[in-house]
Amino acid sequence: MKNSILILALAAVSAISCGTEKGKEQIQQEPAMNETSNPALEYIDYHSYSKPQEAVVRHLNWEANIDFDQKTLSATATYTIDHMQGVDTIYLDVRNLTINKVNRDDSQEDLVVAIHKKEPFLGDQLAIPITASTKTISIEYLATAEGADALQFLDPIQTAGKKHPFLFTQSQAILARTWLPCQDSPGIRFTYEAEVTVPKELMALMSATNPTEKNENGVYHFKMEQPVPSYLFALAVGDLEYKSLGKNTGVYAEPSVIESAAYEFEDIQSMVDTASALYGPYQWGMYDVIVLPPSFPFGGMENPRLTFATPTIIAGDKSLTALIAHELAHSWSGNLVTNASWEDIWLNEGFTVYFENRIMEEIFGADFANMLALLSYQDLQDEIEWLNSENRSADTRLKVDLKGRNPDDGLTGIPYDKGFFLLKLIEETVGREEWDSFLKTYFNAFKFKVMTTESFLDYLDKELLSKNAEWETTIQPNKWIFEEGLPDNCPKITSTKFETVERELAKWTKGGKASAIQSSEWVTPQWLYFINLINGTLSQRQMSELDGVFGFTKSGNSEIKAAWFEKVIPNNYEGLGSSVEDFLIEVGRRKFLTPIYKALLKSEGGLPAAKTIYEKARPNYHTVSSESMDKLLGYK
Ligand code: BES
Ligand code: ZN
Repeated sequence: MKNSILILALAAVSAISCGTEKGKEQIQQEPAMNETSNPALEYIDYHSYSKPQEAVVRHLNWEANIDFDQKTLSATATYTIDHMQGVDTIYLDVRNLTINKVNRDDSQEDLVVAIHKKEPFLGDQLAIPITASTKTISIEYLATAEGADALQFLDPIQTAGKKHPFLFTQSQAILARTWLPCQDSPGIRFTYEAEVTVPKELMALMSATNPTEKNENGVYHFKMEQPVPSYLFALAVGDLEYKSLGKNTGVYAEPSVIESAAYEFEDIQSMVDTASALYGPYQWGMYDVIVLPPSFPFGGMENPRLTFATPTIIAGDKSLTALIAHELAHSWSGNLVTNASWEDIWLNEGFTVYFENRIMEEIFGADFANMLALLSYQDLQDEIEWLNSENRSADTRLKVDLKGRNPDDGLTGIPYDKGFFLLKLIEETVGREEWDSFLKTYFNAFKFKVMTTESFLDYLDKELLSKNAEWETTIQPNKWIFEEGLPDNCPKITSTKFETVERELAKWTKGGKASAIQSSEWVTPQWLYFINLINGTLSQRQMSELDGVFGFTKSGNSEIKAAWFEKVIPNNYEGLGSSVEDFLIEVGRRKFLTPIYKALLKSEGGLPAAKTIYEKARPNYHTVSSESMDKLLGYK
């Protein structure tokens, strides 16, 4: 495999610039460095064929038309580029796109482009000839539902309203290239503007300035003035409504969902204010959330200005909104300071889980945040155990090795939860005040820049750990980052709220009645902890007793329901009826699908039972989920 090696030195970046007008963009495009960090940032992105050290896209002008009958997206993309002297080609990533025409501003001809077939998940390298005077290139292309893994076209029946079709995209990690020829590497940023034409009854939204109402002609205009990496390029089209939630926050959802969404997300404005007070100003103008149909493969996706969210976090009692705090936190960790390659993803996700926890602490109190941290600790232990059992101990390192691998296959809970605990350890060691001021400075110093694990470590040393000779040895950051497993200096978190759960559960385990469990004050994390703690074989009588008293099978809280399914499916609980099948057909969120299908494999019905349900459910899933489930179930 041929990889792009990014050796971005200050000299190289300066040499790339031409006109004065680009001076501003160029500063933002600089690699992560200053006097206090590495003089040059070197890293390899194994997942892009672009060669940004030679030529880069600075701005995109995108005109697209969405055809719901054909399930296609046809577009013309015009790119403003910068290139080094003597460079005669710009390289873009593409996958499964039909390229109709390539032009450039300094030539009338339709350019012939070379496309090299490479790894299937990486797609192809588009090589476009340029000259010293080339300022823009443009590409006319077509993406289809079958080829474009980022896109999911939904039939009306798969939406809340059942009347109109829907389209949404999911570009992270390397799917942007399936609907936009681009330099698909997280370290390369561009600004964009777009004009998108959709059926008149629908509204289009992007990770950019957005409309708040439908218009008569179905043509929508967008602008993203802050440079963003391709994985944050996003589009959603559907029968949508908007409701403002505060001075720079709001929510989009289908009409039948908008009221419950607005209630559930009432705290968003205070989350934005809290986050800004913690780590510096919110840099993106608006912060809105769109509630997507239930096939959305993730809980949330931090598309700038417009978080994409699963409807499964609408529980009716705001108890699952930590997910919004998480996606919001990415507006700093990830969208502002961005992992240089997918091997550094813990810089995005670990920081975000930490930041999310701080937002939750401010708004819902330390007890609540502590419970979330403890659940994260449970997840971390389970994840490490599972990775070890799969001979994947190497993936328990914070800096993962993704050479030759699809980054999606390397994605585990490790960068999230182990990352969180490393940052928590630093906080506990140096004290909150020092740590918060370090973080604030970090986000500001590297805003709109890329960060590698190594340059973060350098910066951490210079700006923080060097202040006290003991800190480095207490923390041992290198061990956390480059070695496997969980170091024994991992912070221990305790929660009296969870101790209560342990006590109540113990009474039941020893033969007490479920109805005697004192749970009237319990909140969602306690219920999750309760379900997680039940272990061993459960009898039908025990399961139906718990279900009778607490109503887990029919719970309106998707997290509780999924945790319960995971626990009782392997015990062949008869009270489930069709609820598991119904859930798996409706919901496409991978975080739920993986454990539930795994549980089905452990049940009496085994693989055939899992496959019977999967056959029915699969057409509803986005490729991100179906590819993972295909692997899990050996489905061809
Ligand atoms: N950016 C991620 C989702 C993602 C990661 C997509 C890697 C593709 C590749 C998002 O912020 C995320 O972490 N979502 C979680 C939320 C949870 C940790 C609160 C999810 O979807 O479950
Ligand atoms: Zn995240």
